[in-house]
Amino acid sequence: MTTMDARSLAEAAAAAYNPYDVAFLEREFEVYDLLRAELPIARTEAITAMGAPGSWVLTRYDQSCDFLQDHASFSNQSNVYPVRPWIPQAIDPPAHSAYRRIMNPWFTVDEMRHLEPHLEKFAEELVDTMLDQGDDFDFVAAFADPFPTVIFCQLAGFPLDDYQQIMNWKNTLMHCADGHVRGFELAAEMARELGHEVSGSHLTPEEELAVRSTVGQRIYAYLGGLIDRRRAEPTDDMITKLLAASYEGERPLTQEELEDTLFLFYMAGLDTVASALGLIVQTFAANPGKRREFIELMDDPERVGPAVEELIRYHAIVLLPRRVTQDVTFHGTEFAHGSQVLCPTMAANRDASEFAEPNELVFDRTPNRHLGFGLGPHRCIGIHLARREVRIALQVFHRKLPDYHPDPERRAEAFGGMKGLSALPLVKG
Ligand code: HEM
Repeated sequence: MTTMDARSLAEAAAAAYNPYDVAFLEREFEVYDLLRAELPIARTEAITAMGAPGSWVLTRYDQSCDFLQDHASFSNQSNVYPVRPWIPQAIDPPAHSAYRRIMNPWFTVDEMRHLEPHLEKFAEELVDTMLDQGDDFDFVAAFADPFPTVIFCQLAGFPLDDYQQIMNWKNTLMHCADGHVRGFELAAEMARELGHEVSGSHLTPEEELAVRSTVGQRIYAYLGGLIDRRRAEPTDDMITKLLAASYEGERPLTQEELEDTLFLFYMAGLDTVASALGLIVQTFAANPGKRREFIELMDDPERVGPAVEELIRYHAIVLLPRRVTQDVTFHGTEFAHGSQVLCPTMAANRDASEFAEPNELVFDRTPNRHLGFGLGPHRCIGIHLARREVRIALQVFHRKLPDYHPDPERRAEAFGGMKGLSALPLVKG
């Protein structure tokens, strides 16, 4: 291919860029490689946020690092929120730092270490139930979804009786337009309830907005109720801790701050680990050699940590959007005030100038400065919980079932955006 051809292909790929489209996932790394080589800061029209004068997508690792650390030029308040921006993810420093100072102590390595026996016991129960049901099973429905969700509900103080409702709201809000089968069904039901005539397999932008805003308000009402109950009956969960917290040692958090924080944790704590686990086990199902390599090292405390880190690099799931706060020149490209810039961590994590053989799983990769958990002030607060959940889930599952393969009769279901799987049918043996 000539340079000119490659450049035109990259321009076409940038113009059509839509990471929310499931079809894109089939060639995402090819597209990211092309963009990184030809147009590392690519202008795209496809994902322009409401009112933004254009969007950009970054694919180079070094530029992604600079971008994520420059919170003065690139604001986290970059989305359309159902009610108010979420705390702390959509808040910029310095207020962001004040919120993180409250929450960081609840998610330290030591705090999360205490949870290990509980994580292990619960993972064992779930895997036993899943494997007792026969020779085939859906790994996502029976394990990847409930494992982190139940743990998160217990930590946060969300009643487990509400599990199905919590999952349905989350799927409606997060997955109404990214190819998630159940997410779309739930959203379509809600749109009809709101008087829209949904036809076909997509919501119109108006329908999507109506659904997202309605489900957002229902979640807010639910969270408000939980906060009121906990105010009357404190325990040791996150809602109780938030009620006792003080902003900069000056005042308690307001009802709105409490709700906006719980809303974000609800979204961040539920989907992420489930998505990572689904994608990792899908790779292991298709690649028995890699699976065996992992099983051999997974009980070695020295080797399993780097291996989990590598799996998270390889299966980065998060797209990080930011809004440009002022006209700015970034690595030679001018971004207009108000534009949206998108940093797909999956693209940075496959950049060969930072990671040798980026498309290979190298379980002892060092260094491994991947961006799967983000970088800069907003780096994932749940990192120690997430790493433990992924490690324990993989250890427990593979101890009980080292051999499995994709179900030849039923296809896995993928969704885009903050990508993952909504179904992963597997067969024992
Ligand atoms: C494999 C699992 C996970 C991945 C890949 C992941 C990834 C990320 C990423 C990339 C960010 C940065 C967002 C940004 O820069 O705007 C982030 C932030 C965040 N994550 Fe995670 N996460 C995971 C698990 C969790 C869990 C289990 C929790 C719940 C405790 C959690 C809670 C949060 C919160 C609250 C933030 C916002 C932090 C801030 O804005 O300061 N995450 N996560």
